Amino acid sequence: MELLGKVALVTGAAQGIGKAIALLLAAKGADVVVSDINFEKAQETAKEIEEKGRRSIALKVNVADPEEVERMVETIMERFSRIDILVNNAGITRDRLLLRMSEEDWDAVLDVNLKGVFNCTKSVVKHMSKQRSGKIVNIASVVGLMGNAGQANYAASKAGVIGFTKTVAREFAQRGININAIAPGYIQTPMTEVLPEKVKEELMRLIPMGRLGQPEDVAQAVLFLVSEASNYVTGQVLNVNGGIYM
Ligand SMILES: NC(=O)c1ccc[n+]([C@@H]2O[C@H](COP(=O)([O-])OP(=O)(O)OC[C@H]3O[C@@H](n4cnc5c(N)ncnc54)[C@H](O)[C@@H]3O)[C@@H](O)[C@H]2O)c1
Repeated sequence: MELLGKVALVTGAAQGIGKAIALLLAAKGADVVVSDINFEKAQETAKEIEEKGRRSIALKVNVADPEEVERMVETIMERFSRIDILVNNAGITRDRLLLRMSEEDWDAVLDVNLKGVFNCTKSVVKHMSKQRSGKIVNIASVVGLMGNAGQANYAASKAGVIGFTKTVAREFAQRGININAIAPGYIQTPMTEVLPEKVKEELMRLIPMGRLGQPEDVAQAVLFLVSEASNYVTGQVLNVNGGIYM
């Protein structure tokens, strides 16, 4: 139970990768705040965590809204008195080739994927600073490193997350706060379920390991980055991608 007594906040934890992260951190002993815009599903995740014997609450929060985020963090401080772990996982896609991409497609993705990370980190890091300890993990993407046709907004948001991670890692290194990113490859979740079968087959061919990743593959990497095993690791991008990008 390496995370016993720790309080973790996972955004976008109602399903997919965020849910797998929330469940694994709880299995390792952490109390977990499940935050998502999908409140019903977030409640289901929180219930599963309570059934494991850990404390959990579900909160309906849009990470793109700084006021909602600030209220979320105040609620967590009232209920749990501390925050040890923040996993910025909430993310969306609005894929289109550039010439068909609207300003709205651009803003929606940047607002959730990049501004959301800024909002949550800023609200949480003040408390971690006072505690003089904390672990923050930002879920970026392989697409932020290598680009992908049809995802200019998404790739820019995830590359932004990487630059943001390295910068705040420097700003808070002396406060005992480790801030890292994970760049998952193609992971089997509702986000990638919508990909056409032909695209999935093509991807399989490009992935040296010959399979899509599972949410648990990402969760295990998060566990490393929030545990004591990574105390001397900060400002890094950990690729969890079956070898598709090295
Ligand atoms: N699936 C992949 O292949 C893959 C690859 C690389 C990176 N990622 C990243 O991993 C993260 C999780 O992706 P996933 O595949 O589990 O996606 P998903 O769509 O299954 O889950 C995303 C969750 O985020 C929530 N969410 C969306 N907008 C939100 C908002 N404004 N505020 C709060 N919550 C919000 C959704 O309700 C959902 O529960 C995302 O940041 C995504 O970009 C996914």
